[in-house]
Parts: sequence; C-alpha cells; structure tokens
Amino acid sequence: MVADVDTMPSGCGSTWPVQGTGVGVDMDANDGNPISDGVAVPDFYHYPQVPLAAAEMAGDFLNLTWPDGTQLRCHRYWLRENAIGLGGIDPATREGLLDPAELRDSMLVAAVEVTAAGDLTVYWQPDNSCCQYHGGWLRHIAEGQHRPASWLPEPRPWRSETLAQPPRRLAPAALVDDGVLCDALNDLIELGVCVLEQAPSEPGFLSTLAERIGPVRDSNFGALWDVLADVALAGDAATNSTANTGFRLGPHTDLPTREVPPGYQFLHCLVNEADGGESTLTDGAALVAALRETSPEDYELLSTRHWIFFNRGPGIDHRWSAPIIDHSCGDGLLPTLRAFYPVRAFPDMPESDVPRAYEALRRFHRLADDPRFELTFRLGPGDIMCFDNRRVLHGRKAFSGSGKRHLQGIYMDRDEILSRARALNRARAAH
Ligand SMILES: [Fe+2]
Repeated sequence: MVADVDTMPSGCGSTWPVQGTGVGVDMDANDGNPISDGVAVPDFYHYPQVPLAAAEMAGDFLNLTWPDGTQLRCHRYWLRENAIGLGGIDPATREGLLDPAELRDSMLVAAVEVTAAGDLTVYWQPDNSCCQYHGGWLRHIAEGQHRPASWLPEPRPWRSETLAQPPRRLAPAALVDDGVLCDALNDLIELGVCVLEQAPSEPGFLSTLAERIGPVRDSNFGALWDVLADVALAGDAATNSTANTGFRLGPHTDLPTREVPPGYQFLHCLVNEADGGESTLTDGAALVAALRETSPEDYELLSTRHWIFFNRGPGIDHRWSAPIIDHSCGDGLLPTLRAFYPVRAFPDMPESDVPRAYEALRRFHRLADDPRFELTFRLGPGDIMCFDNRRVLHGRKAFSGSGKRHLQGIYMDRDEILSRARALNRARAAH
C-alpha cells in the first residue's frame, strides 16, 4: 500500500517510551489498559490496541477499516492537526499547534500503511515526513468515545411514582472513595438528584467536598452561601433573597438571571429544627416531556416567549431575557429551565401573547407542584441535597412557629461535574 517507500524517511517517529506519561498526568485515572507499542496519542489516556486491518486513500480522506468491519473516515487536514512531532500536536501539552491559516493545499498524503502492530503510518508530501497514529486511539473515535456524551450515563426522567426518594450515598465515603463519588455524580447526571448523607454538621464542609470534584461557581451570594432563616432573621435588613425568609418557595431553579445559570447546586443541612420547611424536588425533564405530550400549546409558549429575569439586589443588576424552557442554553438533550418567580420581572414578548403566556405559566407551575411529579421530604442535619439546577426544580414549604433552620450552599458549573464523572467512569472501566 505504500507508494515509493524508498523515498520516505526511515524510523517514522511519534513514539515515546511509555504512552500516557507527561505533564499533569493523573496516572491513577489512566492505568489498567495494555499498551501495544508505545505509539504516542494526542491526549493523556491509555488506549488498548485495536489493530487496523486496512487503510486506503480516497481523495481528501483516508478510509480506515478494522477486522470487524468498523470504519473511520479521516480528512487529511484533521490527520495533520493530530500529527505528533510535525507541528500538529505539542508532545508536552498534547494540544494542537497548527493555526488553520497554516493549512496548505500542498499538505497531501503521499502514502499510508498499517504497521505490524496495527497502527497507521501516514507519509506526507511535500516534505517527505511521516507520523504514526495509534490503532486504539483511532478506534475510540470510530466508536464515538470522543463525544461529550461518552463515559456518562444518559439522563432518565422520573416522576414520584418511579422515584419515591432521591438516591442516597454516604458523604464521608465520597471524600475518600472514588467509587462512591463516581456513583453520586452518575446519579446527578442520570436522575439530576442525589442526597449525600451523614456529612458532619459543620459549616464549610461543602468546600471540602467540592475540592473532590472541581471549582465552585461564585456569585453575588458568595462562593459558599448561607440559607439562614430562623424567625428572628426573616426580616433582617441584610436579607437579599427570598431564600432567606420563612416564605414558601414553590418549585424553582436558581439564578435564571444569568446567561448560563449554575449547572448544579449542593445544599448542606446543618440545623433543621423548624416547624415546616420540608424540601421538594420536581424533575423538569419529566415535566417538559409531559407538557410536550399533553399540552403542546403550553409547551410552545413556554419555550419561545421570553421573560426578563432581574436580580434587584442593592449594587447589583443581573438581567437576562429568555423563555422558561430554554433550548438555547443546554446540551441539546435537556433544556435549561428558568423558573424562579421572585426574579421573573417583565414579559418580553408581544402584548397580544401575554395573556396566553401567563395561562401556560400557571399550568406549568401547578404541574411542577403536582404530587405526581413532586417529591417532598425533610432534610436532616448532615444531609446534602445535590441537584441539577437547570433540570430539577427545588422548593421549600413555608415555616411556621419557631426553630432554627440553617443550610449552606454552593453552585458548581455543569462542566465540572461532567468532567469529573467522565474521568471517574473511565478509570472505573479501566480497572
Ligand atoms: Fe433555590
């Protein structure tokens, strides 16, 4: 298959002694897979060898085939961008170096071959260079493992009849056991909710837990914020959120005033002696599916007509205009729900649509509070309620009488949860 091999350079490189070593490598997360031949790959993972059967040139593309019939078509520019040692991938950072402006028509594949180990060798014109591509690395692309959804569980909508209570995991174990943390993160991606229990009732524990996952997302409420609403504090002048009162909070999502609201929220119960104040959770994914099926007009109004969300705190002025069911801010699978009436300030739609939009909104919130969709339970000291803030609506029953109730919360962007879950799921599969 190689054309004019005599003119090609000998000792085609792109190898290093042990695949996967380098700057910033978490070897624990990558161990466990056999390495066939040490051919370098453009990332820090180990790939089991899956030898290629054939490689053929077809215009600007190469057609790669494995013995089981799996195929992958690779454009020549993409191969050049992923060439290690030819100005494509930097061996230290494993990031691309090639500015697209530097891609030239003359960068042509002169010949290709499959090595004895099943890797791909590409010979390039006009500089007579060559490089190798690991067969297992190419295979992971053919199988779609490079896609954002890979190494993650699929979201599974739930109602109260299919999920009686949120799954529970042990908070102390999540601090030291990657398996427990992996299970909890998978719960959050699949169901959008998980309770970590038996955490110490100490302020600041959430910061320690967050260090196991990734950076927290700060806001005008602080990186670590308190929900402190005993009766004595309910009317405090420092109160800057309905959360810090004893009022009922209907099913809602936090910070719809932002272009991208926080992906996840962790609420740590330190004290709960209040009379009332039970927590509620409603799966917005199930809610949206039900609306689409039974009330298509409501679904259309809620997913296309805009409202302006507005944080009216002293010294801040966060605003965003978007629909309640926001498909423009999501992963393409689940929309982001913007459902916090305390900060939904103005309709942003033709006046003639406002009456119908309000009717749809009323029905949406009634459905969110319907026992068929809503779980109600009481958080105890040491419980950490974790949920997808853009998918799951959370709420709180009103307080009455006396008794302290103190929660602490953090936000974390969806990227951090997904990144950690992929790494943990990948390490689990490797072992
Ligand atoms: Fe909230």
